[in-house]
Amino acid sequence: MGRAEKVVLAYSGGVDTTVCIPYLMNEWGVKEVITLAADLGQGDELEPIRQKALDAGVQASLVADLTEEFIREYAFPAIQANALYENRYPLSTALARPLIAKALVETAERYGADAVAHGCTGKGNDQVRFDVAIAALNPQLKVLTPAREWGMSREETIAYGEKTGLTFPVKKSSPYSIDRNLLGRSIEAGPLEDPMNEPLEEVFLLTQAIENTPDQPEYVDIGFVKGIPTSLNGVELDPVTLISQLNERAGRHGVGRIDMIENRLVGIKSREIYEAPALLVLIDAHRDLESLTLTADVTQYKRGIEETYSRLVYNGLWYSPLKLALDAFVQTTQERVTGTVRVKLFKGTSRVVGRQSELALYSEALSTYSADDQFDHKAAEGFIYVWGLPTRVWSEKMRNH
Ligand code: ARG
Repeated sequence: MGRAEKVVLAYSGGVDTTVCIPYLMNEWGVKEVITLAADLGQGDELEPIRQKALDAGVQASLVADLTEEFIREYAFPAIQANALYENRYPLSTALARPLIAKALVETAERYGADAVAHGCTGKGNDQVRFDVAIAALNPQLKVLTPAREWGMSREETIAYGEKTGLTFPVKKSSPYSIDRNLLGRSIEAGPLEDPMNEPLEEVFLLTQAIENTPDQPEYVDIGFVKGIPTSLNGVELDPVTLISQLNERAGRHGVGRIDMIENRLVGIKSREIYEAPALLVLIDAHRDLESLTLTADVTQYKRGIEETYSRLVYNGLWYSPLKLALDAFVQTTQERVTGTVRVKLFKGTSRVVGRQSELALYSEALSTYSADDQFDHKAAEGFIYVWGLPTRVWSEKMRNH
């Protein structure tokens, strides 16, 4: 008896997920493997990857174009939540996992598979995100994780694959571990494992080194409707085009690099390099528009929600009851977050330099220092008396005792 009869495997075309195919069949007695390669705008050509799985002996090799859904249903809600894990990482990799898990589960259900599989190792966050998301979407499905259990080194994995008739192109292997989608790139390992090593320029693909950025700044007006970015410089764009264009513009100015030590869910600290130009610019712009259109108490309360939301997405709880509840809160707050934010891209920075909204709560008549001021200054005195009263009483007590 094998561990499962029919398995849908998340497939990237890399060494690990390719070796998973014969391994599942030969070692774990799986009868049928169906691979699913997800297009998340990572820019890979997927037809050769589809073919590669067929060559490795799968019964069916599928490609799912998930890019639009990825941006609309995963990235945009995260922007509305200003989601930054540990205040910095915009979750570009983490956001893709629940969507891939959903595609795996749907494919398994459509093809009558009794298990799904992925090639994650046992050290990272991604295994947690897959396993928990799959359990949330279909608790009946088994999850097979060959790469977490086989205990083979890179060389042994390749040797195992070759023994079963697979061939791997001899290319100069990169020392880095890289994950990529339309939102950005995550780069780990190799020389980056020493946190004191400055990342070599070779790790970056979407962002220019400051030395090579234009000497003129570029302004971009970002239009939001209910917290969703919908236009650049007044031109309405579909979600995928908007992200692609903004990646391009911001990346050209060297905007979007992050270098951080991050706390993984599995207890390990890791050194991470990210490039996520559009996502970072959008979160910054969105947060700014909120400061114009939300009341002080909602803005401030939402910061706490955002912190919880980011941690929960990072920790693989996208499809969890708490996440659903936080979504409801965030959605309610976005009703009036509509307007335009002007950002200035220059030499590695994106700065908000203007914002505008029909729904702005900012009132020039109240905030002006000119003669047109309508704020009632006399009202301040009584307000401050009441506001400061507890402190005054406390202070008097402290002096006397
Ligand atoms: N540390 C990031 C995260 O947990 C990126 C993980 C990247 N994955 C990879 N296979 N390189 O979201």
